[in-house]
Amino acid sequence: MNNIKIYKMTKDDIQDVLNLEKSHNIKILSKNLLENEIESKNAYYIVAKVNDNIVGYAGISYVLDNADLISIVVDKDKTNMSIATHMLNNIISFCKNNNIIEIMLEVRCSNIPAQKLYKKFGFKQISIRKKYYDNLEDAYIMKLNIKRA
Ligand SMILES: CC(C)(COP(=O)(O)OP(=O)(O)OC[C@H]1O[C@@H](n2cnc3c(N)ncnc32)[C@H](O)[C@@H]1OP(=O)(O)O)[C@@H](O)C(=O)NCCC(=O)NCCS
Repeated sequence: MNNIKIYKMTKDDIQDVLNLEKSHNIKILSKNLLENEIESKNAYYIVAKVNDNIVGYAGISYVLDNADLISIVVDKDKTNMSIATHMLNNIISFCKNNNIIEIMLEVRCSNIPAQKLYKKFGFKQISIRKKYYDNLEDAYIMKLNIKRA
């Protein structure tokens, strides 16, 4: 898909973003958290739009040269169309332009699509956090080293 456009997330996007999570039966972010993150000087949240409709979002928080990928979600009906790839490219460019040299993330051991996405970008699995999700499922901790622009 080549009509994907990336924008910084605004307050007007929050409800659509929460609906995207609902479509996957996941809840990572809350309205309050998103409102704070959008205002924060230590966070960068984006939405992907196709024909003016929000089809994905992603966000990092960062301190100095280290960032955490908080979430990346694509509309359930629009996966496998490179939308997440566009968003991660945008986030990595942001990191390069802001002297961020490392992105860390956690991902469910069962979440193969997400792990494939991250590996495609060069994220490496560096450890496992046992029973990280609801005290049931393990998380892989993955890290990407970013070369300066
Ligand atoms: C993980 C997720 C963000 C991927 O988004 P996407 O837009 O479908 O990803 P892309 O189309 O850019 O694909 C990127 C790579 O991911 C992998 N991938 C994507 N969907 C896949 C699937 N269903 N099965 C296996 N691999 C998959 C492929 O390696 C793909 O690269 P390729 O097309 O070069 O082979 C999406 O599936 C999603 O929103 N999942 C639910 C939320 C989630 O789990 N988020 C991550 C944890 S917070």
